[in-house]
Amino acid sequence: MNTKFDVIVIGAGPAGYVAAIRCAQLGMQVACVDEWQNPGGESALGGTCLNVGCIPSKALLESSRLFELAQNDFSGHGISISKPKIDVKTLMSRKQKVVYELTQGIAGLFRANRVEFVHGHGALSPGKKVKVIERGGKKILHTLEADNIIIAAGSSSVKLEQAPLQPDYIFDSSGALAFESVPASLGIIGAGAIGLELGSVWSRLGSQVVLIEAMDEFLPAVDKQISRAAFRSLKKQGLDIRIGARLISTEIKRRKVHVTYEDSRGAQQIAFDKLVVAVGRKPNSDYLFGDEMALEIDERCFIHVNDYCETSVPGIYAIGDIVRGPMLAHKGSEEGVMVAERIAGRAASVNYELVPSVIYTHPEIAWVGKTGQECEALGIPVNTGVFPMSASGRARAIADTDGMVKIIAHSETDRVLGMHIFSAQASELVSQAVTAMEMQLSAEDIAMTMFAHPTLAEAVHEAALAVHKRAIHIRN
Ligand code: FAD
Ligand code: NAI
Repeated sequence: MNTKFDVIVIGAGPAGYVAAIRCAQLGMQVACVDEWQNPGGESALGGTCLNVGCIPSKALLESSRLFELAQNDFSGHGISISKPKIDVKTLMSRKQKVVYELTQGIAGLFRANRVEFVHGHGALSPGKKVKVIERGGKKILHTLEADNIIIAAGSSSVKLEQAPLQPDYIFDSSGALAFESVPASLGIIGAGAIGLELGSVWSRLGSQVVLIEAMDEFLPAVDKQISRAAFRSLKKQGLDIRIGARLISTEIKRRKVHVTYEDSRGAQQIAFDKLVVAVGRKPNSDYLFGDEMALEIDERCFIHVNDYCETSVPGIYAIGDIVRGPMLAHKGSEEGVMVAERIAGRAASVNYELVPSVIYTHPEIAWVGKTGQECEALGIPVNTGVFPMSASGRARAIADTDGMVKIIAHSETDRVLGMHIFSAQASELVSQAVTAMEMQLSAEDIAMTMFAHPTLAEAVHEAALAVHKRAIHIRN
C-alpha cells in the first residue's frame, strides 16, 4: 500500500468524507482513516451522522410519523383501516437498511474518486505522520505520511455521573435508536435536539415520554416566539417537558430506572422503563495525538482553529464537531470543502453567520440568522413579519396548520437578518432563507418574488410582505 499522500483525513463522517472527496476532485492523492464498525463488525463510513445520528433518527421519525398519521389522521380523509400495529423489528431493519445503503454509498464514492480508505484508529505523530492502529488494540498497521492532515474525528455523547449507561435501562442516543420494543415509559435527560427528536419517535410509537431539562428556558437558542409555540405544540402531542429540572441521581430497582431530580418545588421522583441521556456531545480529541504535537486544545477539549480551520500547526487542519461552532453535519461538510479548496491554493471561506439549524419534530423547528432576542440585545432596530400556517391554503389542504414563519429585517436597510420557522417541512423552507440571506436580500426582494401556489413556501412570501404590513391573507 502507498504510504505517502498529499492529504490524510482522520475520520470519515460528513466533515471528513466530504473533505477527502473534494481534495481528490482537486487532484490530490488522499487517504482517509476511520475506525467505525457497524453492528455486523464491518467498517462503515459516514461517521456519527450516517451510522447513529442524522440518518437513522430521520428514518425512525418518518416511520413513527406514518404510524401516528395512520392512527389519528387517516379517518379524517375518509380512509378506514384496521387499528394499525407497530412491528419494531421491521421498523429497525428498515432503518438499518437505509444506513447500510448510505454508508456503502460513501465507500463507492471513495472508490470513484480514488480516495484510499484505511480502516483503523489514526494517531498523529510529529512530521505529519499518522499511525494507523488496529481498532481496539495496539498493533500499528501502517504509518502514513502527508503534506497536509485534516482532523475530522467528530464527537461522542456526554456521559453523566448520575446516570451511567446500563444495558437494558440507561442508554445514550445510539441505544435509543435501537430499542427492540416500545418502552411503556421513557425518561429523557435533556430537552435539546436529540431529546426532542427521539422523544417524538418513541412517544408516537406509544411511550409515555418525560423530558427532564436543567435549563429554565426551553430551547434558549431559538427565537422566543417560535420556542413558545413549539413548547405548546409538543406538550399537546404528549411530550411531558419539565424545564428547570436538575438531575440528582438514578437507581435501578424493581426493573425500573428511578430518577430523582430537583425543580423549583424541591426534590421529585419518577420511575421509567428506560432512560436516555441526551445532554450534549463532546469532541473526540482524546487518543488522537500525544504531548509531542503542539496542537492547541481549548478548555472544552475542542481543537483550537482559526476561521479557516487551521490549527496551531501549519499544514494540520481540523473540521466538524471536533472544532468550535454548532455540531451539525452540514457545518462540518462545508468546512471540509473550504479546507480542501484552501489546500489547493484557492480562496474559500465558510459564512458562520448563516448556518441553518433544524429540529425534526413535527412541526419542524428551523432557523437561520439572528433571533428577535439577539437583535434586541445588540440594539439592532428591526421590523418583523409573521405569517401563521393556519392562513396557508396548502397547510389547510394537508391539515398541517400548526406554526408560523417569522422574518426579521433591519428597519433601516430592510436586509433580512433572520428567518424562524415552525411548520411542516420547515427543514426544506429554511434553505430558501439561507439563499436569500447569502445574497443579502431585503424583505422587499422576497416580497417582490413570485412563489408557486399552493405551497407552504408561500408563507415565506407572506411573512416578507408582513414585514411591511402588506401580507394578503392575514389582517396586518
Ligand atoms: P462524526 O460524524 O462524529 O465522524 C467522525 C468519524 O471519525 C467517526 O466515523 C469516527 O469513528 C472517526 N474517528 C474518530 N476518531 C478517530 C481516530 N482517531 N481514527 C480514526 N477514526 C476516528 N446533525 C445535523 O446536521 N442534522 C441532523 O439531523 C442531526 N441529527 C443527529 C442525530 C443524532 C442522534 C446525533 C447523535 C447527531 C445528529 N447530528 C445531526 C449531528 C451530526 O451527526 C454531527 O454534527 C456530525 O456527524 C459531525 O460530523 P463529523 O464528521 O465532524 O464527525
Ligand atoms: P443539546 O445541546 O441540543 O441539548 C442538550 C440539553 O440537555 C440542553 O438543553 C441542556 O440544557 C440539557 N442538559 C445538560 N445537562 C443536563 C442535566 N444534567 N440535566 C438535565 N438537562 C441537561 O444536545 P443533544 O440533544 O445531546 O445533541 C447533541 C448535538 O447533536 C447537538 O449539538 C446538536 O446540534 C446535534 N444534533 C442535531 C440534530 C439536528 O440538527 N436536527 C439532531 C440531534 C442532534
